Amino acid sequence: MTYKDLAEIKEIAKIMVKEERQPHVEGTAKFAKALAKIHNLDQTIAEFMGYSHDLFRDIKYDKLFKISQVYSIEITLHDKTNPILLHGKVAAEFVKRRFKIYDVDILSGIAYHTSGYKDFGIYGKVLFLADSLEETRTYPNVNELRKLAFKDIDIAYFEVLRNKIIYALSRDLLILPESVESWNSLIFKKKGGI
Ligand SMILES: [Fe+2]
Ligand SMILES: [Fe+2]
Repeated sequence: MTYKDLAEIKEIAKIMVKEERQPHVEGTAKFAKALAKIHNLDQTIAEFMGYSHDLFRDIKYDKLFKISQVYSIEITLHDKTNPILLHGKVAAEFVKRRFKIYDVDILSGIAYHTSGYKDFGIYGKVLFLADSLEETRTYPNVNELRKLAFKDIDIAYFEVLRNKIIYALSRDLLILPESVESWNSLIFKKKGGI
């Protein structure tokens, strides 16, 4: 990951993300970078992931389906009923092809930034946290979760995932299978499983 890649993804985000979403994308990149700094990770990678995660968030559904087909992305039943779910997977495939990034941690992080993912690496968790905790997000316990993210990425990931699941439950929203899988895998580990 080079500084040139970062400059390029910033430009692409400016073009592809709609105006109202720009503060969220900038906020995510900024938060991811700050998390990377405090946890001694690569700040360029974290910032790059922030700028790339929602590139396809504002693309019309029929286009999203078409690009997914071109990219040979498997379209699940959930994606069919809720096409916006594809935006992460498409963004991951896009950066893979355009920037020749093959790092699984970076790619799965971008692909599953909404749901969480049981096999997330550290950068996946950083992006997931940044997406939920960046400065424009407002919900009751966001400040406590922000503090937690600067202290411990793994504990914060667990708590933000919990928060997302509770939110979905309380509003009759779909709980994504990847979220459930990630949650169960963490609970299993907590109870002494592998
Ligand atoms: Fe997103
Ligand atoms: Fe986002």
